[in-house]
Amino acid sequence: MKRREFLQLSLTGIAAASFPLISMKGAQSAGPRLSESHIGGGGPESLAPRRLELLDADWRFWAEPTVRLTTQITDWVWTPGTIDQATAMTAPALDTSGAPWKKTLLGENTLSDNSGGWFRTTLPDIQGPGRTVRFESVDDNGTVYLNGQKLLVHTGWDGEFDVPLDSAWRDGGPNVLTVFVENINGPGGIYKTVTVGTVRQRTGLAAPAFDDKSWRTVHLPHDYVVEGDFDPSGDVGHGALPVGAAWYRKHIDISASDRGKSIWLYFEGVFRNATVYVNGKELFFQEDGYDPFHVDIADALNYGGSNVISVHVDAHGGEGWWYEGGGIYRHVWLNVADPLHVVPWGVYVTSDVHDVTTSPSADLTILTQLTNAGGMDRKVTVHTDIAGPDGRIVASTASDHTVPASGNLDVTQTAKVSNALLWSLETRNRYEALTTISEGGKVVDRFRQKFGIRTLKFDADHGFFLNEKPVKLQGTCNHQDFVGVGIAMPDSILYWRMQQLKDKLGCNAIRCSHNPMSPSMYEACDELGLLVMDETRHPGDAVETKASVRSTFTHTEHIEKMIRRDRNYPSVIMWSMANEEWGIQGDPYGATMLSALTIAIHKHDKTRPVTTANNSGTGDGWKVGFGAVEDLLGVNYNYGDFDWLHAQFPNKPIFGSETASDVTCRGIYETDKDAGHITSYKTPEGSWEPLGSREFVMGGFAWTGFDYRGEPSPYPWPEISSNFGLIDVCGFPKDVAYYYKAWWRQDEPLVHVLPHWNWAGKEGHAVPVWCFSNCDRVELFVNGVSQGAQDMPRFKHVEWNDVVYQPGSLKIVGYRGGQIVATKIVETTGAPAAIRLSADHNKLVPDGEDIIPVAVEIVDAQGRVVPTASNVVTFAVHGAGVNAGVGNGDPACHEPNLSNKRSAFNGLCMVLVKAKTRGGGIVLTASADGLKDATFDFSVS
Ligand code: GAL
Repeated sequence: MKRREFLQLSLTGIAAASFPLISMKGAQSAGPRLSESHIGGGGPESLAPRRLELLDADWRFWAEPTVRLTTQITDWVWTPGTIDQATAMTAPALDTSGAPWKKTLLGENTLSDNSGGWFRTTLPDIQGPGRTVRFESVDDNGTVYLNGQKLLVHTGWDGEFDVPLDSAWRDGGPNVLTVFVENINGPGGIYKTVTVGTVRQRTGLAAPAFDDKSWRTVHLPHDYVVEGDFDPSGDVGHGALPVGAAWYRKHIDISASDRGKSIWLYFEGVFRNATVYVNGKELFFQEDGYDPFHVDIADALNYGGSNVISVHVDAHGGEGWWYEGGGIYRHVWLNVADPLHVVPWGVYVTSDVHDVTTSPSADLTILTQLTNAGGMDRKVTVHTDIAGPDGRIVASTASDHTVPASGNLDVTQTAKVSNALLWSLETRNRYEALTTISEGGKVVDRFRQKFGIRTLKFDADHGFFLNEKPVKLQGTCNHQDFVGVGIAMPDSILYWRMQQLKDKLGCNAIRCSHNPMSPSMYEACDELGLLVMDETRHPGDAVETKASVRSTFTHTEHIEKMIRRDRNYPSVIMWSMANEEWGIQGDPYGATMLSALTIAIHKHDKTRPVTTANNSGTGDGWKVGFGAVEDLLGVNYNYGDFDWLHAQFPNKPIFGSETASDVTCRGIYETDKDAGHITSYKTPEGSWEPLGSREFVMGGFAWTGFDYRGEPSPYPWPEISSNFGLIDVCGFPKDVAYYYKAWWRQDEPLVHVLPHWNWAGKEGHAVPVWCFSNCDRVELFVNGVSQGAQDMPRFKHVEWNDVVYQPGSLKIVGYRGGQIVATKIVETTGAPAAIRLSADHNKLVPDGEDIIPVAVEIVDAQGRVVPTASNVVTFAVHGAGVNAGVGNGDPACHEPNLSNKRSAFNGLCMVLVKAKTRGGGIVLTASADGLKDATFDFSVS
């Protein structure tokens, strides 16, 4: 059978010499915006005549206080049923005193797998207005009715939600509340408590006249959930922090000369339930917290005067099962353009590459999507220059078109790049398409779009090829969460995190689990040379934790936004449409849905394969569900299925869409459930060897690169973070990181030994010693005495289990071909004596967002990190910066994320230093009782 081959595209550029060149951010310069070219403009400086403004500064913020509802509703009856019985089941007069209705207690597993049921109760009298019922957990999806009137559908299986009752309330009663609970999987019912009461309605907060001066000023990106205190009675799965609603307001001036222009806001992401108002007028609502959105504000503006943008955010109603945060957590941009302009994400460059391995050249196809919001047809010239990685124009093309009044036009042009500089993991060349739209010689719009030229090939027998060169996907899955700041990661942190994964693990691929990420993350991957599995896990219409069985798929906006936004990134190599959709992944309905979604994807990009992350397990599900129609088979875990799948689908490339989930805790060698700590003696080979040793498996994505808040595993509270990471939530490597680095960077000889060697009290007792290495043979010495050499089996590790502890040193030596190629020494340290601060660099830009993570080490008198130290460190930041948050990698630490103090966890903690909006110097000081202080200087310019 013929194998599918995907040729790829993508580049950036601007046409005329007047286009300023984009200087890409490097590790050492925390350049401001990484995302500008993907939003329809040319960067912070804007490309006249279009005006592009970053609106991240000076938002007024107010968190709505949580109102406690005190009256519990405990008296419920229920009966199994289906949603199509709604009319009868919700009728207020229905007699529920006998069969089939039965009494049920909240918290009972009333429903079993894949069943549904009706729950009814009569509410007491409640004072209005603002009558509200609050559910703490309905498992799964609940549809709530009052007196037969449908009020709200809540999707998911956990997470508190409120239902306002006034619209269906009957004064004098009775008021019959009915809930249909669907159950997709596992146990089901109404869990925890249901309370009723009155929530005071807040009106007028979006009005221009509202006085917001007493509100706090915040700078985006912002996550207000991370500011809360950990609470064991909270939603621990989502990080045990209180989740609420909040308001943001920002004042902007709009000049009179902007009247008649197209003006829109671009929100890169708001978590979640965002309602956007301009001058008090409600313009837009989006429930989903991961998708970007544009809001046309032209008709609501006060031209020649001041305007207020208000955004109400309600973080309730999680979409996933991890920490999801809350707030305007990505950039916000204002675009002011001629009514005839390139639409957002409207330039798309694909390339047909020839002589890839010898002297590459590329035939480019450039799609430019125009809109004309005016009332008259307009004749324009579309001129596209292609700028090479060095900024010089290497090709140009121009054509004349008429864009109809109130209409759109797609323009397709071609250009040839003769000596194409390919984008690869080693050479991250990018081009730019520089578009100029002119009318009668006058420029009406300009736009720049980066892209890369490269080829992709997915081969069912030999794996993945980039530019015809085999590349094993050595990937990690990651959520969007970091120490201190939560989901509000500025560009510098998004970049820094990708760099850590690359440097500390040898990772070459990222899975966006389970949602599209900030544009700057993809920019970082383009810059650093990391491949991306882009993902949305909202198959069909659903904005919910799992698509319900037979959920609809008529609205494909989620998917189309992701494809249009991300289709020019050369790093993005595949589109993933789902993660572990139990209800549909192995069902013909799933195949129907995925085929429909693929049609939507292909409207915008046909150059990348479509896949899903599927945990069907061996069986016919693969043949009739997603597996039947997807291009690549993404297998979550189930390593034993690879050979079976390869035999069943000999022409479909296969990869491990999710692997590992090996829980370990940095610096812990004895599991202590009460402390929420789990041992680092864990064998990781079971998760990589099956992928590493099979040529036909393209590689895979370990769950996860970084630890993340929420989904505490394997224990509940006191854990509030996951333990899956190969590196902890601060980016400090765990022992397991070295296993991956050894086998993912076989070109660099590596030896790593565990545990640490501070075991006071264990003298004379055996302490197991393990080694991760990619050398042929390794030898362990304790205080200079060999404990024996062992061959290092490929993709495995070795152990010495009868090493007797005595203070001193562990030395591990790695041999290749009989020669020593790597050595590592771990010594018993003295007591904590001093603090040491370190960071990748010390230069910030004065944008109010740029952050440098500073590693804080507790060291002994000889400067060795004390691996058990837990000293509390106090931070002071003076000058042109602030402390933006702290962390230590302990999954059970309940100290606040925003604080001037943090205890070290096994010798390490972290503080984030953030630039203010002015230049100058910053001095960070770290001190702790009984330890020598440390300082670190930064400059902001
Ligand atoms: C997977 C799931 C991930 C995460 C992981 C933990 O099944 O896709 O989101 O929950 O399990 O092991």
